[in-house]
Amino acid sequence: MRVAQCPQTWDEWRGWRTKELTTLAQSHYKKNIVYISSVLKQCAAQMNQIVGASGCFKNFNRFINRLDLSKRPGRLLGFDVPDSEYLALLSAKGYLALPPNLARQELLADIDNTRSVDFAKVEDKIRSYDPKWRVFYYKSRNLSTPDDSQAMGRLLVYIPGDASDRFIQFGVSDDPSSKPSEVISQIIVEKLDPVSGKAHADPQVYYVDLWRSRNSGSISVTSRLQSVKTAEPCYSCHESPLIKIKPADHSILSDLSSQQLAEVNSVISGYAAAKIAEFNRDDLGPSVGSESKAVDAAQHWQVLKQNCGAEQLKDDASVARVRAAMDCASCHDGAKRAAIHYLSVLPDQFPTGSNLVKQIIIQDAVMPPQSELTADENTVLYQCLSKSVSSPGDLSGELERWLLQSDCTPDT
Ligand code: HEC
Ligand code: HEC
Repeated sequence: MRVAQCPQTWDEWRGWRTKELTTLAQSHYKKNIVYISSVLKQCAAQMNQIVGASGCFKNFNRFINRLDLSKRPGRLLGFDVPDSEYLALLSAKGYLALPPNLARQELLADIDNTRSVDFAKVEDKIRSYDPKWRVFYYKSRNLSTPDDSQAMGRLLVYIPGDASDRFIQFGVSDDPSSKPSEVISQIIVEKLDPVSGKAHADPQVYYVDLWRSRNSGSISVTSRLQSVKTAEPCYSCHESPLIKIKPADHSILSDLSSQQLAEVNSVISGYAAAKIAEFNRDDLGPSVGSESKAVDAAQHWQVLKQNCGAEQLKDDASVARVRAAMDCASCHDGAKRAAIHYLSVLPDQFPTGSNLVKQIIIQDAVMPPQSELTADENTVLYQCLSKSVSSPGDLSGELERWLLQSDCTPDT
């Protein structure tokens, strides 16, 4: 993309950024990314003529760079390294192959030919391979598989190990007479580097999508990128490296499976602050609910509460409870628990029109922990949080203020 004309003066740069940021925020941070990134790159020389300008564009630059990555061929996963390098790394670590027991033709064929209600048999078979493995079939309440089967069915196998813990999830076609699912998603929590043999100070998380191809009765497994050249940044939903599983109602097949689901969820919970490898999450801006730490927090709250339904709550005590509950970042600070960014309050994070924060506050009502908020207060809490993160109308959200670095002016 060629840029027609570069902004010249600081005022022009600032005006341009405000205009582009407005479009960007209105499109839930999806539109015009490649264009904005081209301007920043092609006009870098002009910006460098203004002493100190690039410092005031630091946040904007790094954020756009991160979003731009996954729009470029060869960078679809959005990690710090190109997809080919990431795949080479996975291959060297042995993560592109399924563990031998799961790679058996007979098992892969069983998974293809079993109806969801009969999956207990497949679960039992996999359990018989190793008493430490945990297995359960479930239906996702959030999304279908990224293949033509559009399946909601999943078979999750959890394989603990000294070097790494693997979470291997087969897409399972909802009706075996229709197209079978191709994808097998994996998340690997690496405790010890299998190449160097060295233990990590903090566990490192790797994401792998594998793909099943069926050819005259045999099923081969390669990476999704190699097979169909598609991918997406897993971090757009997996901001916490792993997401606790709450299956669609009545989709778990037995008490044993329910118990194993609970065990897997408790392992997932323990990895909340694990580090996503090859990815600098600070590029995504401030953590949701860090508002209350801002110097001008009280002033922002006055404006915010008029726009997020807080004024409709029954009394001041109720408003005060909501405001206090907004301090998510006191725990979700990136050390105690995973930091949560704007992605998880976007209205379209999940295809159902929900997102992680809405789900956890409104549907599941489990955050903030031990809260005594009423259902109405939870609804308002979610609205206030999401407005406090992004406010496209006046760019007053935490994310927008971070991007604009409003206090920053170049030396003149
Ligand atoms: C649109 C959101 C979204 C994207 C993008 C996404 N996932 Fe997930 N994933 C989920 C949700 C939500 C769950 C929890 C189960 C459920 O509700 O379906 C999940 C669960 C999983 C699990 C089971 C373990 C766990 O964390 O619960 C694996 C493995 C997994 N995803 C792998 C991947 C990989 C690999 C990618 C990238 C190629 C990816 N996912 C991209 C939403 C997503
Ligand atoms: C007192 C500390 C604390 C506060 C405050 C808090 N959380 Fe959490 N959060 C946790 C803990 C602990 C878990 C893990 C719970 C579990 O696994 O059962 C968690 C889990 C979550 C998860 C699931 C992903 C993960 O990291 O495990 C989300 C999303 C989440 N919280 C959002 C929020 C939001 C939004 C707020 C603010 C409204 C909030 N939390 C406030 C402690 C906190």
